[in-house]
Amino acid sequence: MMTTKTKTTIHKIGNFVGQEVTLQGWLANSRSSGSVQFLMIRDGTGFIQGIVAKNELLPEVFQLAHSLNQESSLEVTGIVREEKRAPGGYELTIKNLKLIGSSENYPITPKEHGIDFLMENRHLWFRSQRQQAILKIRHEIIKAIRDYLDSQGFVLVDAPILTPSACEGTTNLFEVQYFEDKAYLTQSGQLYMEAAAMALGKVYCFGPTFRAEKSKTRRHLTEFWMVEPEMAFCHLEDSLQTQEGMVSFIVSRVLENRKKELEYLKRDISKLEKIIPPFPRISYDESLEILKKKGLNPVWGNDFGGTDETILTEQFEKPIFVTHFPMACKAFYMKQDPVRPELAVCADLLAPEGYGEIIGGGQREEDLGLLEARMERMKMEKEPYQWYLDLRRFGTVPHGGFGLGIERTVSWICGLEHVREAIPFARTLYRIYP
Ligand code: 4AD
Ligand code: MG
Repeated sequence: MMTTKTKTTIHKIGNFVGQEVTLQGWLANSRSSGSVQFLMIRDGTGFIQGIVAKNELLPEVFQLAHSLNQESSLEVTGIVREEKRAPGGYELTIKNLKLIGSSENYPITPKEHGIDFLMENRHLWFRSQRQQAILKIRHEIIKAIRDYLDSQGFVLVDAPILTPSACEGTTNLFEVQYFEDKAYLTQSGQLYMEAAAMALGKVYCFGPTFRAEKSKTRRHLTEFWMVEPEMAFCHLEDSLQTQEGMVSFIVSRVLENRKKELEYLKRDISKLEKIIPPFPRISYDESLEILKKKGLNPVWGNDFGGTDETILTEQFEKPIFVTHFPMACKAFYMKQDPVRPELAVCADLLAPEGYGEIIGGGQREEDLGLLEARMERMKMEKEPYQWYLDLRRFGTVPHGGFGLGIERTVSWICGLEHVREAIPFARTLYRIYP
């Protein structure tokens, strides 16, 4: 049989059984048993074991294979063999080997390392199979969100990062010098999406958002990514249906395309298979009753903490909507309930298994007088929000939307303990390196 030499990637290697191929990648690890060496090679698309047999190669090639350190970059040529017991189902019998970049004393060895050490070496930690799996699932989630919203007729509208005013309250704003003035890193693109919804109907933004969170929890970052759909002529229930449609679509896409990665992360897939609409809806008041029955002492008017959210979701297998929070614990733009004005027409979506709030959203106050009165009560400066009030002056309509936090969603779907692994380079209270 004639063999042809082809450059390929590990992911596609199954197309070349019995043929000679060339791969470019890195040495994940290696072991030796005298006259045979086993090189675990990775190239971003997968991992494959390369077999280097002393009696089948030039002595200098065997010597080079022997001297390679972890994370050396290399080009290997070899014959693809089917191997049922190998992780990807294939092995490579190496015929030739070329060192591209050497690697001395790679700091992350196969032994266990502490989390601080790994975060300090995040730029290298990336290369581990676990981190690769998380990054691939994150990509799948973002793509699923965009595909879902695009298929529902939403238009992507980018929101600014530098803003003149706060969206979510002033306690966690990052201030930056803006020439002679002050500006803030955006906490949310929502206010801009309200303007865009009045132009285009259904819109969304997707980008980084910033909050100077002083809390050190497993759910808080200072820089996180959020997708924020906003809809004109939208009532709360319309928004909840979009949310459960989108969230279940994301989960089904990950199950469809990234099962291998979920399995690598040892995620309990049966739990994800239950994420099918509709999701239960309970009111804030009902939530307090549940918390009281579980022995907690919640105070009416306070927002939930992480523990409250975990306890609330315990008895459900799906994400749950908690609706109608007290106005007092929500942002200025929330629409007040026409029947009980102390409540906001809003909802948070809490993920199961203790992952907490992944979505915050609701209807926006569309009435100019009510909105201005609230801003006055909250002692907000109205000047920076004139443009926002214009949306109520010129053809106001009932509207609403929501914001889904990407990292919390990734943490939940991957089953991660902490959001720091759900973003390529996490920014937290004590970390801005690397
Ligand atoms: O509930 P939040 O604050 O809602 C808003 O910002 C609205 N303006 C969104 C909207 O209606 N357009 O944040 C929305 C989501 C949360 O549910 C959570 O998933 C995530 O953003 N989030 C964070 N994720 C990581 N670190 C933080 N510090 C986060 N703060 C919020
Ligand atoms: Mg919230």
